[in-house]
Amino acid sequence: MSKPIRVAITGAAGNIGYALAFRIASGEVFGPDQPVHLNLVEVPPIMKSLVGVEMEMEDCAFPTLTGVTRCDSDHLEEGFADCNWVLCVGSIPRKAGMERSDLIRINGPIFTNTGKAIQAAAAKDVRVVVVGNPCNTNCLIAMNHAPDVPRDRWFAMTMLDENRAKSQLAKKAGVQVKSVKNVGIWGNHSATQYPDFFHATIDGKPAVDVIKDDKWLQTEFIPIVQKRGAAVIEARGASSAASAANAVLDTVKGIIRPTAAGSCFSAALCSDGSYGIDEGLIFGYPLTSDGKSVKIIQGQQHNDFAKSKIQITLDELRSERDTVKDLLK
Ligand code: NAI
Repeated sequence: MSKPIRVAITGAAGNIGYALAFRIASGEVFGPDQPVHLNLVEVPPIMKSLVGVEMEMEDCAFPTLTGVTRCDSDHLEEGFADCNWVLCVGSIPRKAGMERSDLIRINGPIFTNTGKAIQAAAAKDVRVVVVGNPCNTNCLIAMNHAPDVPRDRWFAMTMLDENRAKSQLAKKAGVQVKSVKNVGIWGNHSATQYPDFFHATIDGKPAVDVIKDDKWLQTEFIPIVQKRGAAVIEARGASSAASAANAVLDTVKGIIRPTAAGSCFSAALCSDGSYGIDEGLIFGYPLTSDGKSVKIIQGQQHNDFAKSKIQITLDELRSERDTVKDLLK
């Protein structure tokens, strides 16, 4: 039997963490023959709840799960010890009346400690996916506090946006969602993101030629995707959890499995300056993987409409970076 992959999940007793942990344990991501050890991390007052999560894990009798370690967030180095993956879900949720900049300042320090503990304790091949919002900037903070962890190991999640965009395009075109490919999410995981429908395909043809409704694509599709999280909260009375957990799995699969020809997957990563984006910013791009390393798809042409959308989300990420500049030192 091969050595277990160790996966840390922060916020493991929260809505997303709870949905995520069981699916990782089940073997769905790393395969039925790959053992997995979970490190579940929570804040001290919630540790008791993790006892219950661990009991349920036992009750699932997953053949792939070799063990569970419970850790509190005051001892993050124990939580991340030898971890090959750190899935950073834990954070303080946005409350009514809270500005985005307030949220950034509240959650920023969590990610300072996260970065330091990853650097100190994680496995040499660690890869990190930040989900907790504002995920791009939280990832930037953590990465800056782990200077020895290569920059190509850091990701912030935009996969939920891609999945939402694909479903909306499929619904509009009257096709199955599997027909829709190559939908890259550019920029921030926020209401400024740019879901790129110009490069999307439906059954191999450009989505714009299949849908034939530029007005809908430009003025309805984009805001639907940008504001889908708020619409789910409105309808469900709680924020997206199962779909967000599903998107974390899709992100990890996107990174570790070769991308099919003509497809991409979306995540935000440390920009190398591609497409004129500031080097070092955690920016959402369309990506491919060969199963070992991830690359930004190069050479996509953007018209003035797309350029203006990318500029808006870039400006927002620059302003988030400015808001936390003291946390980047
Ligand atoms: P939740 O409030 O149900 O769970 C968050 C959990 O994190 C709680 O159990 C809390 O105790 C824990 N936590 C807080 N601070 C922590 C710390 N320092 N260390 C470890 N754990 C900590 O929230 P939910 O619904 O699970 O969402 C989690 C985050 O994911 C939120 O920031 C949310 O905005 C974000 N999110 C991101 C999405 C994306 O696409 N990137 C999509 C949906 C949600």
